[in-house]
Formats: sequence, structure tokens, C-alpha cells
Amino acid sequence: MKKNCLQVFALMLLMFGCKYAAMAQTAPLNVKAQLAYCLAQVKKSLQASKDGDINIPRSIPAGKTDWKYVGYKDWTSGFWPGVLWYAYEYSKDKSLKIAADKFSRELAPLAYSPAYDHDLGFQVYCSFGNGYRLTKDKAYKKIILATADTLATLFNPKVGTILSWPREVKNFGAHNTIMDNMMNLELLFWASKNGGSKKLYNIAVSHAKKTMANHFRKDYSGYHVVLYDTITGKKIKGITHQGYSDSSMWARGQSWAIYGFTMCYRETKNPAYLGFAQKVANIYLKRLPKDLIPYWDFDDAAIPNTPKDVSAAAVTASALIELSTFIKDAKLSAYYLGKAKAMLTEISTEKYQSHEVNNAILLHSTGHKPNNSEVDASIIYADYYYMEALLRLRAKDNF
Ligand code: GLY
Repeated sequence: MKKNCLQVFALMLLMFGCKYAAMAQTAPLNVKAQLAYCLAQVKKSLQASKDGDINIPRSIPAGKTDWKYVGYKDWTSGFWPGVLWYAYEYSKDKSLKIAADKFSRELAPLAYSPAYDHDLGFQVYCSFGNGYRLTKDKAYKKIILATADTLATLFNPKVGTILSWPREVKNFGAHNTIMDNMMNLELLFWASKNGGSKKLYNIAVSHAKKTMANHFRKDYSGYHVVLYDTITGKKIKGITHQGYSDSSMWARGQSWAIYGFTMCYRETKNPAYLGFAQKVANIYLKRLPKDLIPYWDFDDAAIPNTPKDVSAAAVTASALIELSTFIKDAKLSAYYLGKAKAMLTEISTEKYQSHEVNNAILLHSTGHKPNNSEVDASIIYADYYYMEALLRLRAKDNF
């Protein structure tokens, strides 16, 4: 009798669990509630923040609770001030504005030092770029314009692209351009339209065109890195650095492409970029697992026993929201927006949000799997693009 009761109880629990899981999956995305959650996590991180030069949150390893901090030269240094600007934009809380300004200003020396690599766009546009958008502070504008000129020094006119990693020229024996670099063209476009040289616009367009021609396979999946002959400017080959193999589709690389070409269309209105953004998005969407959160590389032979990359999902969701606004065909536009919302709905579940686990916003991003670095971790750029996507939805739905 006792055993029977226990069995019935277990069955009821199971049924309730299944029903609850189904409800959780189909619950509509509540953008305001998710932004409020982000704000609470950001405030926790700010409260725990450190003094000194190495004080910018970058990532929290799986199973740990504390942020690993970096200094302003790190490629991710712009995302935390960017997160703070987004938190300020949402809340209008002055203390967040003060913090966003403080952390942004730490990055100012980047504008006036020789360019270390292409990441200047991530660093300065996500921080000062958002700061200027929200405050119109002239000091920020000066820093952004100077940084664009610094980034432009990496442009090789013979190749027609920016040299993404000067430090790797010796190792690769060639000029190298990486997919991620598409994101940093936004800084150049912005500068060219806000008092900077028109040459910056031409550099961005040249880089985007060459990337479109050389960085993709026939199915529109991208290479992480393309090597070019420095003297002749000709493409040598496409390879990987952070992906599974030279012929694989590294998830975040593809998400940078979706975002980058959508942004290029916004800035140029050249329909070639709009068409291309859809093609690179379509292969990504076609190959996603059911829950729309990609494994770190679409071709890892260990799938499904390999980590996911929520950062790629957040970047893609943000990009697809913007892409949907440019597409005239109402059905197609709704398709991309629907996918973005479904991704954000999934990211907004307990499975992917940190809550009490740590002070970041999201869990389960993968930075550099082949190096065994930041695998299945909380990473600041996932938080940044998640907040951006939520704010884009809020702006779109006008509330
Ligand atoms: N830009 C480096 C990365 O996406 O990991």
C-alpha cells in the first residue's frame, strides 16, 4: 500500500514537472521583466566591483562565482561599460551613468596608442559609442573619432581589408582578416558620418566587399580567418582559429557575420549586403538545434556532448531583430523577428540565466574551445548582446 502511494505520488510529480516544463517553454517573452532581471544582475556586479587597473569584468568560469577581471587593453574591455550604458538606458538610474562613464573613460588611452588589433571597435564603440548615443558628450565623440583613425592604420589597401591581428603576421606568414572584424566596421561608418574622414567609409566598404567575396563557402558558412598575400593582395586560404576545423562553421563567427552584414546594409543601403545577411543567417538558422541555441561549433563531431555558445545566440538574436526591420516582405520579416524572439525566449529561461549562480546575466557561453579557455562560462559579451537585443525589441514595440 505504502509502495503504491509512493508510485502514484511519483507519477503526479512527473506529470506536474512535464506540464511545468511545457508551460515554461511556451511562456511568451516578457521583455520588461527580462530587462529588470538584467538590471538586478548588473547592480550586483557593480556592488562587487574592484578598484585598481584590472577591474573590468570579463568572464566567470563554469562552477565559479566571481568575475575574472581585465584591464582596458583586453579585447573585451568595452562590453562592461556597454552593459552599464544599456542598464542606464533602461533604468535612467544616475548611479549607473556615473559608473558607465567611469569605466568608459578607462579605455580612452586606446584612442591615442598604436593599434594593437581590430578589436578597437568592440572596445571603444560599445563603451563610448553607447555613451555618446545617450549623452552627446563631446569628449566621448573626440575619443571615438580618434579611435577610428587609429583602427584605420591597420588597413592594407593592396589587400583591401583591415589586418585583424598584426601579432599573428609572423605566425601565419600573411596578412590575416577575421570574421569578427566585420563588427568593428561600425566604428568606421559612424566616424565617417560624424565629422571623421570620408576615407573611413571607403575602408569599411572595401573590407566588407572583400569579406563577402573571400570569407564564405558555397553554402554561406564562414571561415574564421582568411589569409592574404601581403604583396599581391590575393587570398591564400581560409582557416580557423577558434573553431573546430578549417571547414567547420564556428557559431560565434557566423553570428558576427549575420550582425556585421546587417549593419553594413544599415550604414550603406547597398542591397547586396541585405541579401548577403539573409544568406549567412539562413544557413545558421537551418543548422540550429531545436532550442535555437547553437553548440559552440556547428560541426563539432561530439555534438550533442559538447558545450553551447549562448553568446552566439545573443549576437544573432540582436542582429535578426535589426534584419527584420529592413525586409519589405512582411512574411519574411516576421520570420526573422519570430526566430529572434524565440531565441531570446529560450535564453531567458533558468537554463541559460545566471540568477543566484553568479552575478553575470547569462551562463553557457564558449570563448575559445580549442584553447580550453572560457568553455561553458559566463562571458560579458553574451550579456551585452542579450541586453542590446532586449532593448531593440523594446524600441521596436515602442514601450
Ligand atoms: N573576437 C573574438 C571572439 O569572438 O571570441
